[in-house]
Parts: sequence; structure tokens; C-alpha cells
Amino acid sequence: MANSTVPADSADPALHGAETGDDGVRRRDFINIAAVSALGVGGVFVLLPLISQMAPSADVLAESSTDVDVSLIEPGQSIKEIFRKQPLFVRRLTPAEIAEANAVPTGSLRDAQSLADRTKEGHGDLLVTMGVCTHLGCVPLGAAEGENKGEYGGYFCPCHGSHYDTAGRIRKGPAPTNLVVPDYEFTSDTVIRVG
Ligand code: FES
Repeated sequence: MANSTVPADSADPALHGAETGDDGVRRRDFINIAAVSALGVGGVFVLLPLISQMAPSADVLAESSTDVDVSLIEPGQSIKEIFRKQPLFVRRLTPAEIAEANAVPTGSLRDAQSLADRTKEGHGDLLVTMGVCTHLGCVPLGAAEGENKGEYGGYFCPCHGSHYDTAGRIRKGPAPTNLVVPDYEFTSDTVIRVG
């Protein structure tokens, strides 16, 4: 009669041994702990790709800025570079081109900017602009040797006839604004970092 009050699993020695180890941790507890741990580890593996997706990829980082060695650009020469998948013009102005740009009353311009506004102090002979017409985005001529520089000696967009002067300012034609000067800085006397 006394045995009738003993729980069934306590009465089964085999089951009792399987459920409780020497350290007192039952197998069911161990399975629960293992499952939670696995979830935690799994969570890390799920999070890692997410975090790496949120970080900028290597090619985005590489594209975010462009270094240009300007030491070999002679006065009167331009070079074409690519900045964030768009053309970039870097031009060394001659003293005559600088004088020409400075002779224009800024207030008379459609997009009123002086040459000094568009260049870096101490480097007024280096004009850095995007090679993208501000009308509808064609690439203007004038950066390569022998190309048409337009009526104002700077750049000429043949798509609809926009003329830019030696400071890259719009002087004639439908383009509403000057060629864009991107953010850049001199990292040395001879190298600029654009972007
Ligand atoms: S895109 Fe240059 S003038 Fe229209």
C-alpha cells in the first residue's frame, strides 16, 4: 500500500538515472541549455552577415575618394579622371587664362562665382571640375588636346551648345550653372584628394 504514493518515474531506476547526472543537472536541463546556446551562436551567425552588409563594401570605399597627382599637368593642359563613375577635369590654367577669368565682373555671370571661389587658396591656377554639363549631363569638350574649348576658352558642350569659360563658368547656352567643383583637398603640394 505504501508504494502506491511513489511517482512513476522515481520508481523506474533506469529512467531516473538517465534524467539526473552526478552533478545534479538533469538531461532535460542540459538539452534546454544546449538549445539556448545554439540559438545564441546561430544569432551571431545571422547578425554577422547583416553587420557586414551594413558596412560599406570595399569598392564603395575605394570609389568614395580619388587621389590625383597634379604635378605633371602643364599650364594650359587638362587631364580627365574618373570620380565616382563620372568624368572629372583637372586643368592647370595659364596666366592669360587666369587673367581672362578675373577680368569678368562676377555680378554679370549667370552663376556668380569668381575664380577664387572655385579654386583653393594658393592654388588659383588649378581648376578641378566635374566633366558633366549642368544642362543635361553631356561630357563637354575642351579637356583633351585639340578639342573645341568654346567661345570662352574653357569647355564646350556640343549637345546643345553650352560654353564655359576658363574658370568653368557658364557663359552662353542653356546650362543653368557652372561646372560643379567637387569637394577636394590638397594632401601634398602635388596630390589632391577628391571626395
Ligand atoms: S547637355 Fe550640355 S548643353 Fe545640353
